[in-house]
Amino acid sequence: MKVHHVGYLVKDMEAAKKEFMALGYSDGEVTRDEYRGIDIAFIHNGGYCVELITPYREDSTVSGLMKKLKNSPYHLCYICENLDAEVERLTANGYVQMGEAKEAPAIDGHRVVFLMNGSLGMIELVEGNEGDFA
Ligand code: NI
Repeated sequence: MKVHHVGYLVKDMEAAKKEFMALGYSDGEVTRDEYRGIDIAFIHNGGYCVELITPYREDSTVSGLMKKLKNSPYHLCYICENLDAEVERLTANGYVQMGEAKEAPAIDGHRVVFLMNGSLGMIELVEGNEGDFA
């Protein structure tokens, strides 16, 4: 599976964007994900796509992680054509699904899901064809 992005927790979105831009990344528009309680911005540097994520409320899906990790990358997201089939394949091979598959407003409404693996930690799947994300 091709990598779509690296998910990167940041405490302060604007401060982080400024520092990433100073390292050569593009600016990215911030999208609010009200279901997950987070703000998201995708920034690019060459072939690398980084998803900056910061919680805007206490009960966000990343508030617990944020306390542990502070500013840190924490997941890789992979592109798959059939999300349900891929979840079935991975969960049959030791991955544990974390929550239901849900549309991601910051990725044009493509469905995403998170899974845990004892040897890899957290991964994300986004449903679509590689061409959708070019
Ligand atoms: Ni992600």
